[in-house]
Amino acid sequence: MLMLGIETSCDETAAALVDETRAIRADVVLSQLDAHRPFGGIVPEIAARSHLDHLDGLVAEAMRRAGVGFGDLSGVAATGGPGLIGGLIVGVMTAKAIAAVHGLPFVAVNHLEGHALTARLTDDVAFPFLLLLVSGGHCQLLVVEGVGRYKRLGTTVDDAAGEAFDKGAKLLGLDYPGGPAVERAAANGDAARLSLPRPMVGRPLPDFSFSGLKTALRQEVAGLAVAGALRAADRNDLAAALQAAIADCLADRTARATEIVRASHPHLHTLVIAGGVAANAGIRERLRAVAAQAGLRLVVPPPRLCTDNAAMIAWAGLERLRLGSTDGLDFAPRPRWPLDPAAPKAIGAGVKA
Ligand code: KG4
Ligand code: ZN
Repeated sequence: MLMLGIETSCDETAAALVDETRAIRADVVLSQLDAHRPFGGIVPEIAARSHLDHLDGLVAEAMRRAGVGFGDLSGVAATGGPGLIGGLIVGVMTAKAIAAVHGLPFVAVNHLEGHALTARLTDDVAFPFLLLLVSGGHCQLLVVEGVGRYKRLGTTVDDAAGEAFDKGAKLLGLDYPGGPAVERAAANGDAARLSLPRPMVGRPLPDFSFSGLKTALRQEVAGLAVAGALRAADRNDLAAALQAAIADCLADRTARATEIVRASHPHLHTLVIAGGVAANAGIRERLRAVAAQAGLRLVVPPPRLCTDNAAMIAWAGLERLRLGSTDGLDFAPRPRWPLDPAAPKAIGAGVKA
């Protein structure tokens, strides 16, 4: 089986080819960062136009690198949601067109399922497993019982962990996206010099909250800034304090989730971290300790497969195709698409899926 995957839900245009031996035969990602950087965040209209301009070329490039033609494919998968509607339409329409012309099955993949199943592409991970999904738009703890079978244990009541990095970076005058910039600055900082709050830590339900952290950081910045600017040493210490606070929250909430799953899923042996924030080395180390304490194996995909890519979409599509779970050409992109539709909203939750 050979699957073409397409990812256009946010600010990366990506195409990849993955086969059933778990070989990534091609994996091309075009970041739109430079187009969005002047605005300090993603501009949906710019993103959609850029996907439209580049996707065909990226698909052709992936096919060329893998040395295959459309006739060699078993199916075409595209991110069907959640994400920015303009980009989703571009990816889904492209995938449908290839599927229609070449008589191939089409699979609409939930972007979050792409992140969730990446660990099964990179490692031998059996169901069920505990998943900490930490990206720019999502921060959830889930039990993954099978393809399409998710039980959400906790979620954020306000910002996602990646959002906390991005907004924190903005307050510190660091580059967008914030996560990698904060990680670099934190490497030269002293996390112990300043203390930031750890929202939700110790609570019985493994939910998250990060907006208070942002407010506290803003106050620290105001206290340390001289003529509106931070000294480099202060900026580094604040970045280290921010990363430590986020890592503590993720570690405490995940530790709580391991206690809950021990009762509900005694045969669960693996903790997986996925999503862009899992690229952070400090956070990976903290979660390694949590897993060891709980007697679980930790699996984290390599950083390149933690941030958005199309190999994860091709792989999730392949897992679905193997189970006969394909979609019709009438599939409509879903800007909101929760993994566990039965999960109640977290207390105090806003609009996050
Ligand atoms: O999964 P992803 O690429 O896109 C979404 O689906 O949201 O995640 C992007 C998020 C951004 O918030 C970014 O700041 C964060 O992941 N991120 C990181 C790191 N690399 C990316 N956060 C912390 N440390 C990093 N090294
Ligand atoms: Zn993502």
